[in-house]
Amino acid sequence: MRGPGQEPWNRYRELFPKYFWSEETRLASIIVADAKGSYVRDTSGKKYIDLTSQWATNNLGNVPDEVLDVTVQALARYGFLTYFMNPHLPMIELAEKLIENRPSPNLTRVFLELSGTGAAEGAVKHAVEASGRPLILSFLGQYHGLSIGTNLIGSLSAHERRHWEAWGGGAVYAPYPFPYRRPRGMSETEYGGWVLDYIREQILGRQAEADRIAGVIFEPVACEAGVWIPPSGFVRGLAKLCHDHGWYFIADEVETGLGRTGTMWAIEHFGVAPDLLAIGKGISGGIMPIAAVMGTEEVMGRAKVAAGTTFAGHPAACAAATKTLEILRRDRIPERSHRLGTTALRRVREWERFDHVGEVRGLGLCLAVELVQDKRSRRPDPERGRRVFFDCVEHGTIPLWNYGDHVIRIEPPLTISPAALAAGLDTLERALRRHAAR
Ligand SMILES: Cc1ncc(COP(=O)(O)O)c(C=O)c1O
Repeated sequence: MRGPGQEPWNRYRELFPKYFWSEETRLASIIVADAKGSYVRDTSGKKYIDLTSQWATNNLGNVPDEVLDVTVQALARYGFLTYFMNPHLPMIELAEKLIENRPSPNLTRVFLELSGTGAAEGAVKHAVEASGRPLILSFLGQYHGLSIGTNLIGSLSAHERRHWEAWGGGAVYAPYPFPYRRPRGMSETEYGGWVLDYIREQILGRQAEADRIAGVIFEPVACEAGVWIPPSGFVRGLAKLCHDHGWYFIADEVETGLGRTGTMWAIEHFGVAPDLLAIGKGISGGIMPIAAVMGTEEVMGRAKVAAGTTFAGHPAACAAATKTLEILRRDRIPERSHRLGTTALRRVREWERFDHVGEVRGLGLCLAVELVQDKRSRRPDPERGRRVFFDCVEHGTIPLWNYGDHVIRIEPPLTISPAALAAGLDTLERALRRHAAR
């Protein structure tokens, strides 16, 4: 770990003040010298197990050689071409590969973007412009990005929306049916039903009539909120509401897609066919920034939508993404994520024996440990989250943690070896034990 006074750290701190949160960040953050597979190494040569896959992006591990090779070749051949003036082969090949791997046959059209934010916003733009309706139904706790639009469509935290609250107005919100924090005495299924009633009675009855709503944006697993896995009856009920009212069902799979939850797409767990699918992060093996939206003929085939950005569909990024999709299928990576995730979940569930671990949950290699003051109160314990996170980093494992949160997440590369995963979990378990007492 880099200590105070280290030159790269000081330059980092001075040049990027936004990323420097406190003195403590200095002790935990590392300046990466190189990254490979499931590891990163800092400038002092210390190696860390990467349980973040760089915010669920490097699903094939850090710097996958095959993806890197095709990217370099595509760069040499095409450089940058704009998709709008000079469409190119890699973007067509990528679109075909996406369609080959779609969650449901109704998705026949593709739109390219640069980031998950752009994909989520692009999907919303398509829904609003194709329907001619102004509103989007969203769920409290979801994250779709930090552009002005996605920040206000999402609602991960009031802190992130600070200064921008008044710019909203296009979204109406229902609670996300997060089973662990359901009202006492309610079953998970009942809670899902309660949220559907809330939409019918409190939203449609009091805030907006159904024909003013263009669609629903939904994270099939709300990862940033802390891996909230909704009751499956709820997701099917939501799809039925969409069908009944002519709402487009937008699945935001920027984080859950591409094998993260043990299937290629998380929406497959619920047997629902979305009208729009936002894809990002892991699509290009972490080698190039690119994102995409898939849509139905109805929502994408006809409407002329004002969406896009210059660098969307960079030829080399398209080539990287096509190769990544090929590898995900060839090497049965979603199945691997399911297998490793199931084994890991069996082990980490045992941590619920600690009074300060409220719940451990997961789907595929998307797991979360919810830290609470005690099991009875279930009060979130961000201070303990902080201590556990810093302890892990100090001992050579980097879990995923939103600064200031009470949830520690485990989202390693889907290619991580069972031994490296076990070693990372050992570190986390020791940290949980060390910080058991208040
Ligand atoms: C569900 C979801 N949507 C959208 C985004 C935004 O993606 P990006 O940060 O690549 O713009 C994220 C990022 O974490 C996400 O988890």
